[in-house]
Amino acid sequence: MRKSKIIYNPLLSVKENAENNHVSISAIRWYIRTNGIDRKRDNAIAISKSIVSYKKKYPTATISEISTALSLSENTIRKYLQNEINTSIIDKNKLSTFDLSKRKFIISSISDNQDEILSNILRLHIKQYRFDCDLTYSIGVFYKHIPQPQLKFDKYPQMDDVRPLDEFYNIEDGSLHSIVIDLPFVIKGKDVNYKSMMADRFNCFSNAKELYDTNTSMLQLAYSKLSQRGILVFKTMDIIYGGVQHWIANYVQNTAVEVGYKLIDMFILYAKTKVLTNMNTTQLHARKFHSYFFVFEKK
Ligand SMILES: C[S@@+](CC[C@H](N)C(=O)[O-])C[C@H]1O[C@@H](n2cnc3c(N)ncnc32)[C@H](O)[C@@H]1O
Repeated sequence: MRKSKIIYNPLLSVKENAENNHVSISAIRWYIRTNGIDRKRDNAIAISKSIVSYKKKYPTATISEISTALSLSENTIRKYLQNEINTSIIDKNKLSTFDLSKRKFIISSISDNQDEILSNILRLHIKQYRFDCDLTYSIGVFYKHIPQPQLKFDKYPQMDDVRPLDEFYNIEDGSLHSIVIDLPFVIKGKDVNYKSMMADRFNCFSNAKELYDTNTSMLQLAYSKLSQRGILVFKTMDIIYGGVQHWIANYVQNTAVEVGYKLIDMFILYAKTKVLTNMNTTQLHARKFHSYFFVFEKK
């Protein structure tokens, strides 16, 4: 059977899955049916996971506080806390997408699909419907298949609802649960005599120092606005510039740790196809066909 292009998230409703995938509700229902997915069991597991995770974050939270935070009734919270999940809902002929013994439901660290990686980060680490904030929104390519972030900023806003990055400083410190950053990774020095497809004025740095300094300052900026155990999703890649390898991903990891983050996950996006430049030069290093999505937690 041909692999379905649908990126299914059990934490979302059928309608939300349909919206994110730009398909009809019946297409999602078809996906659920053909993959034998047990929605009821998935729902029960998702609720249980969200309660456990909230209790872990706020150990002294009362039932009423958990109920308000998770929009669940106090009775439901009580039932789950007492482990009273109704086992009669389990249909032995169907599968749970949380079942890690089933290869097709396992979230993989590697993908050729950025939408799949972002959706999996939301599901696995953010545990919410959408990201709180994107600091490098650009034209929002990240949000073609996942919900728009609540707050959108960019140093060079290109859309009406995107705020200039300077305004992000006004956000209260420690108030955000999740932030996304995707800085340019192209350096366009003064001596460039070929036109890089990505090297436009928004998407490049004029030298390596500017690239490294910006990575550092954005890591620090996000840190100040994230709540304790808040999550930063940082896309980056290594580059070769002027014949020199720049291990930017290494730099970002090390600097993030110095700033006070912990790396809790890493996804690798690989490019199946890549535009080839014909510069008639001898190849000295492996051509990069991958980039990274780091998931950092504020310690
Ligand atoms: C690769 S694009 C982001 C694409 C975006 N993730 C999307 O889904 O469309 C990089 C963004 O970083 C912003 N940027 C460029 N230089 C910057 C700098 N020095 N500091 C902060 N942001 C910068 C650009 O305006 C651009 O929108």
